Amino acid sequence: MEERLNFRNDLVDLPEFKVSDIKCKIKLDQNESPFRLPKRLRHHVLNLLKEKYSENLYPQPTDFFDKKKKVAEFLNIDPRRLTITAGADQGILGIMMISKEKVKLLDPSYPIYRNDAIVLKKKIDLAKLDEEDNFKITTEKIGKGYNFVGLLSPNQPVGNLIDDKVVAEACKNNDIVLMDEAYYEYSGKTYLNFQKEYKNLVILRTFSKAGSLAGLRLGYLIGDEGIISAVEKVLFTPYNISLMHFALLDNFEEIYGWGLEFGKRIRKIRDDFYNFLISSGFKAYESKGNFVLFKGRKKLYDDLLSNGIKTRYMNIHNKDYIRITIGRKDEMEVVKKQLTI
Ligand SMILES: Cc1ncc(COP(=O)(O)O)c(C=O)c1O
Repeated sequence: MEERLNFRNDLVDLPEFKVSDIKCKIKLDQNESPFRLPKRLRHHVLNLLKEKYSENLYPQPTDFFDKKKKVAEFLNIDPRRLTITAGADQGILGIMMISKEKVKLLDPSYPIYRNDAIVLKKKIDLAKLDEEDNFKITTEKIGKGYNFVGLLSPNQPVGNLIDDKVVAEACKNNDIVLMDEAYYEYSGKTYLNFQKEYKNLVILRTFSKAGSLAGLRLGYLIGDEGIISAVEKVLFTPYNISLMHFALLDNFEEIYGWGLEFGKRIRKIRDDFYNFLISSGFKAYESKGNFVLFKGRKKLYDDLLSNGIKTRYMNIHNKDYIRITIGRKDEMEVVKKQLTI
C-alpha cells in the first residue's frame, strides 16, 4: 500500500534545541535553580493532589478562574489580564499564535522564539545585536511596523537589561510587544507598570528559574484583556494545564516569595563570579540573570565537562562563547578553581 507520510518537510530545517545529556557533577547548563522547593511546601502541593483534586477529571474553567482571581489579587491586577501556561514556552507560543505575520526577534536570544516563528510561518526579521556594543538593544535595532516584537530583559544568553526608553519606543512603533521576564527575580526589574500606558505590552513570567519549578512547567502572561482572551482561546485554556498547576497555584504566594528571596541570594554569587572572570582576563558580559556569558572556546567547555562541570557552549555570530548558570556558592568555587588551572 502507498505510504502517506505526508507532512511539512520545511520543518526538517528547524534548528534543533539540543541539550547535552552527559552525566555531570555540577549542572550549570540550563539556568535552573540548584535548590528544590522547601520540603514542607513540596509535601503540601503533593497532598493537595492526593486529597483535594481528582485526577480523573479535567481542570474546570470556573475553578481556573478562581485560581486566576487569587493570583491576580496578589499581583494587584484584573484576573482577566492574566493567564496561566505550561511554562513560559507555552506563553511564547500562544502569544505568537495570535500575532500577525511580521515578527522581529533579537539575535542572540532564547532560541524558542525563532523556532515558534518558523513553525507558525511568520516573516522573520532579526535584530542582530553587536558584540562590540556588548549586545546592546536599541530602538534602531528593534525598528518599526512589526506585528510582534520579542523582547527579553534580561536578554538571554547575554544577561543585559533593556533601557526603559527603548521599551517605550518599541511599544509605540509596533503591534504586540512581548517582554520576557523569565529572570525577573534575579534582575529585580519589571516592566509591568508600563502596561498602564502601553496596552500592547505583554509580560511573560515563569517559575522555572528562581521559582525552582522547571520540571513542573508553570508560567504566566499578563496583558490586555482582549489579548489574554485570544491566547486562552488558541491554547484551549484551562485544558492546556493540569491539576498539578492548580495545586501549585493554591500556593502561589509562597512559591512567588521563595523565588524572589532565592533570586536575591543568587545575585551576589553571580556578581562575584563575573568579577572573577574579569579579573582572570576573560571577556565576560555583565548579567542581571542567573547566568554569565563569556568568550571561551569549545575546548574550554570540553575541559569543564570532562571535569564534571556542564555549561553551555554557544556559537554567536560565528564566535565562541560559554554560558554558565550561577549555581550554589560551593559549586561556583569549584568552577573558579577549574578555570584558573
Ligand atoms: C528567556 C527565557 N524565556 C523563557 C524560557 C522558558 O521557560 P519555561 O521553562 O517556563 O518554559 C526560558 C528558559 O530557558 C528562557 O531562558
